[in-house]
Amino acid sequence: MDKRFNLCLIGFGNASRAFCKILLDHHESVKKITGHDVRVTAIAARSKGSLIDKDGINLENVLSRIEKHQKIHETESTDLDTLSLIEQSGADVMIEMSSLSIKDGQPAISHIEKAFDLGMHVVTANKGPIAWKYKALKKIADDKNLQFLYETTVMDGTPVFNLVRFTLPGCRVKSFKGILNSTTNFVIEEMEKGNDYESAIKQAQLEGFAEADPTLDIDGWDAAAKTTALANVLLGGDLTPLDIDRTGIGHITATDVNNALKDNKKIKLICEGGFKNGQVVGKVSPQLVEQSTLFATIDATSSLVSITTDLMGEVIIIEKNPEIQQTGYGIYSDLLTLLNGLHN
Ligand SMILES: NC(=O)c1ccc[n+]([C@@H]2O[C@H](COP(=O)([O-])OP(=O)(O)OC[C@H]3O[C@@H](n4cnc5c(N)ncnc54)[C@H](OP(=O)(O)O)[C@@H]3O)[C@@H](O)[C@H]2O)c1
Repeated sequence: MDKRFNLCLIGFGNASRAFCKILLDHHESVKKITGHDVRVTAIAARSKGSLIDKDGINLENVLSRIEKHQKIHETESTDLDTLSLIEQSGADVMIEMSSLSIKDGQPAISHIEKAFDLGMHVVTANKGPIAWKYKALKKIADDKNLQFLYETTVMDGTPVFNLVRFTLPGCRVKSFKGILNSTTNFVIEEMEKGNDYESAIKQAQLEGFAEADPTLDIDGWDAAAKTTALANVLLGGDLTPLDIDRTGIGHITATDVNNALKDNKKIKLICEGGFKNGQVVGKVSPQLVEQSTLFATIDATSSLVSITTDLMGEVIIIEKNPEIQQTGYGIYSDLLTLLNGLHN
């Protein structure tokens, strides 16, 4: 007999819907592989309503309703605030996919604390909690013997944390270096083609990867949050984005970009983490990279992380032009990791 496994979804935007589509398509194979009948029993959004159905929500209906009417519910909205919905969901795992608040990680941190309080496992696609409170949240999870997974928070479904966790056993990470912000990467590339900063930002917004307010990307905050997440998880740090030595690309001019090209170089916003005097440190800054290096080949929405370890030297992983499905897959892969872990 398959065991029921209930999910509570916080947020029903692009990431959450991409995850639900994968879940719908793979429900039967998940059952076969893990022996669990996975059902979504609660969904919360901010303005688009919320829904609880302990028998399992019909995802197909909800996905079509949100597309047509921008509402999760028809008549059966719970009208609950998010913390109460988590409490009443009776779920086995809470999946945190609400909007990112890069300056403090809230309210996602409270959602996760509530779920742990109730004895639920947690998967988060939202990097706020990993950047602002990873160590404390991980301790709560460990103390309660609950799983806490966050693969999607850096490079979507591309295995970065799982690469180290599952495929580099016994290796100690000494440092990392990466290109992790699409908007800044795209803007510099457009400047290399002779386009100005403003039109590059507009184009990035049209293509859907720059926010309406792009300053969080341009000033390096998004890159700093990802750097913090990597430093906290891979290096065992207890940093927040405020601890990152952060410089954005706002001061970079067309002349800087052209001078770099003349020198066979490119300017890239680089995220770095390592140890200094035994302390974990992180830095985000625009740097010149040689055109012959892999770093120079990372275009627009692609990203790269190079991880330097004690026993395996340097390992590099690249995500090439991701779409929203890669985000959905990251969350789905965490769900499978979680379910497989329940057998151990
Ligand atoms: N999109 C990506 O490619 C990607 C990749 C990696 C990680 N992520 C992370 O995944 C998360 C979701 O991203 P997204 O692209 O799906 O964003 P999105 O499309 O803007 O959706 C965010 C969802 O969160 C809901 N929400 C906001 N505050 C809430 C609250 N307090 N309680 C319950 N729901 C709340 C929103 O509700 P309303 O619609 O009603 O406002 C919306 O449904 C973010 O943290 C993001 O950083 C996204």
